[in-house]
Amino acid sequence: MAARLRALLLALCAVLAAARARAEPEGISFEYHRYAELREALVAVWLQCPAISRIYTVGISDRPGEHEPGEPEFKYVGNMHGNEAVGRELLIFLAQYLCNEYQKGNDTIINLIHSTRIHIMPSLNPDGFEKAASQPGELKDWFVGRSNAQGIDLNRNFPDLDRIVYINEKEGGPNNHLLKNMKKAVDQNPKLAPETKGVIHWIMDIPFVLSANLHGGDLVANYPYDETRSGSAHEYSSCPDDAIFQSLARSYSSFNPAMSDPNRPPCRKNDDDSSFVDGTTNGGAWYSVPGGMQDFNYLSSNCFEITVELSCEKFPPEETLKGYWEDNKNSLINYIEQIHRGVKGFVKDLQGNPIANATISVDGISHDVTSAKDGDYWRLLVPGNYKVTASAPGYLAITKKVAVPFSPAVVVDFELESLSERKEEEKEELMEWWKMMSETLNF
Ligand SMILES: *[C@@H]1O[C@H](CO)[C@@H](O)[C@H](O)[C@H]1NC(C)=O
Ligand SMILES: *[C@@H]1O[C@H](CO)[C@@H](O)[C@H](O)[C@H]1NC(C)=O
Ligand SMILES: [Zn+2]
Repeated sequence: MAARLRALLLALCAVLAAARARAEPEGISFEYHRYAELREALVAVWLQCPAISRIYTVGISDRPGEHEPGEPEFKYVGNMHGNEAVGRELLIFLAQYLCNEYQKGNDTIINLIHSTRIHIMPSLNPDGFEKAASQPGELKDWFVGRSNAQGIDLNRNFPDLDRIVYINEKEGGPNNHLLKNMKKAVDQNPKLAPETKGVIHWIMDIPFVLSANLHGGDLVANYPYDETRSGSAHEYSSCPDDAIFQSLARSYSSFNPAMSDPNRPPCRKNDDDSSFVDGTTNGGAWYSVPGGMQDFNYLSSNCFEITVELSCEKFPPEETLKGYWEDNKNSLINYIEQIHRGVKGFVKDLQGNPIANATISVDGISHDVTSAKDGDYWRLLVPGNYKVTASAPGYLAITKKVAVPFSPAVVVDFELESLSERKEEEKEELMEWWKMMSETLNF
């Protein structure tokens, strides 16, 4: 099997700035970018904003820099279906926009970049895009270029963790990180495309909190689960975080005038849009998708991902790109800002050492998140009163009550006492008591 990518999975990471860049802001050019041009566009952003960005490739060992303790990581992935071209271009424009606005001193963008690590991967299927874009003329075939070079549909190629969690819901078993300690099995699985493997490692290695996967062919923000519990073609398939996912999907659709228009006719006359509400839909209610990337994020990592369908046409004429950017610009920014909701903080021991892999659970929501290597965690939640528990093997769990507003995230830190410390304390207390008793009784 040809397990090599012809083109690399490029990502741009906008990170905390050390200094202002000097280059003059460049304009955004609203045109399609072939692979070489995509690479040039990202390099241009990097050259213009070297202090706040870096380019890296996913699936190769290059490291996208270090995670900053307490700073949540966000990602946008476009063009997973190579013929769905709008997301790819919007992400190139977004990278340019962030860099330009940062340099202009736009406070909203400066604050966003200083508080968030934003990863932008314009194309998860560069080979498919080249195939789609190589067709002559403006009218592109509906399917050509959808799959990767091996003919694999990448959004059906992920390990089907929904089936596992549906069994665990009935029979007991974990509700998160279902591939823990199985990275080797992923690498050895011959059914997984190289793009899929690369992105699985990316998802599992970086403590991402929030993500969106950009597609085309319709106009809606779609949230988990994508695969139905019963196996039927259409069925509302809520995940334990249904409330926040509905809110996240709305945070995208509500800023896009076309997507949120209640009177918008379906993209095609016979399309079934009956599951759409305010430009959002539950995935399973629309149509069941097994092996997709969205649910994989939620069930294998701490990352909450939605899938956004950006355009009725998959590969629309170049002159419409500017309009798509205008319709999506505020949505793209507003969606990133949702990462600063819910509760966040650090889990440490009594000496102040970070506790990695601690479990953060919320009463009433059977989906736990875990702390990253510096003990930092983020737990997206809609407004409400919650009981949040931090626990880790060898430590006494602590539960705290917290009132969560819409935003920003409430800081809730945990200091866990280790069981050995507790035993030591109990022993000392016992000795103390024994001493006192023996002195009192005089024996
Ligand atoms: C700064 O960026 C925000 C977010 O994109 C935008 O809404 C706002 O108009 C920008 N401000 C200026 C002065 O351009
Ligand atoms: C946390 O869990 C991951 C995945 O199971 C493991 O690779 C890592 O070593 C763990 N880290 C700590 C500090 O226990
Ligand atoms: Zn698609």
